[in-house]
Amino acid sequence: MKHITGLIGRDDLVAKVTREARKGRHILLTGPVGVGKSVVLDAVIDRLIVRSDLVVLHVNEHQAKGQFLEIARGLLESGLLKPSALELNDELDELDPAAIQWLRIKRQAGRLSIRDLTAAIVPALHANKGRVIIAVDDLTGVTPTLLAFWLAVCDAAQLISCANEKRKNVAKLWWKMTEIEVPPLSPESARALAQEYMTQTGMLVESPPLFVGHVVQQANGNPQALADLLADSSKERVVDKARIREMRHAAGVRYFDFTPVMIIALASVVGARYLAIGTGDTELYIFAGMVAAVVISARVFIFRGAGKAN
Ligand SMILES: Nc1ncnc2c1ncn2[C@@H]1O[C@H](COP(=O)(O)OP(=O)(O)OP(=O)(O)O)[C@@H](O)[C@H]1O
Ligand SMILES: [Mg+2]
Repeated sequence: MKHITGLIGRDDLVAKVTREARKGRHILLTGPVGVGKSVVLDAVIDRLIVRSDLVVLHVNEHQAKGQFLEIARGLLESGLLKPSALELNDELDELDPAAIQWLRIKRQAGRLSIRDLTAAIVPALHANKGRVIIAVDDLTGVTPTLLAFWLAVCDAAQLISCANEKRKNVAKLWWKMTEIEVPPLSPESARALAQEYMTQTGMLVESPPLFVGHVVQQANGNPQALADLLADSSKERVVDKARIREMRHAAGVRYFDFTPVMIIALASVVGARYLAIGTGDTELYIFAGMVAAVVISARVFIFRGAGKAN
């Protein structure tokens, strides 16, 4: 959505993160999915790039292998890694880094294992200690196997990244990083974002305040949710009041979770069965058996209907 509206309501946060980054800290932006971590990171990178003595590598891949390749490519193109270190043709070492065409060597580099790539990347970072910033769009998926690599990156370069969850099995990495939480957008910023989107896309809405109020309330400060609601409505030729009412109605639907009811029912049946056996009460025994049969068969129908509004 940022490409339509521009970045809204994050000036203070971007300034704060940039300040921390300039101090040389490793930074982790955290917050729920869609809250806007990546766009804040983008804005911070733009500001950091202005300082030309640092090499800023922006890694957008989410899979480990892809991330390693992107780092290798960045180092190669900035001249900090020789092609021969990636087992590429030695003659390429003579070329000006700017003349290296990644597309032509990508396939060959892609054949390297993560271990080979690590063996090329870590020494190159150490040889250029303090000169490289690695900005990774998402580190949520880091696994314990990759922990050593990322810790080595932290030792030699500056790491700036995002995660929507800090998995405990890689806690050592999170300890190295200063966490900055990306909060939900304020209602004013969310309203400004919705209004800007409507202006930019030329959406026709019968009652803009009603519509904006509704989407802002539903999105609850999450820009991705806001983007989804707006994109959904912009498919309509005109958003009239009936459509807004319809959206409200759909949003008002609550789902009832039957799980606890089922657990209590089954526990009572099992309890009754033991009670009947213990006290020798045949009638209770038969009754509990019948209730069990009813509960088990009702379960199928209840779960089938559970998605309906109540
Ligand atoms: N402040 C903002 N102004 C305008 N658009 C925004 C803003 N924040 C986020 N967006 C838009 O909202 C969407 C989600 O943002 P983004 O991808 O940065 O979230 P995220 O927190 O990185 O999500 P994920 O956890 O899925 O990676 C994107 O389309 C982005 O352009
Ligand atoms: Mg993201």
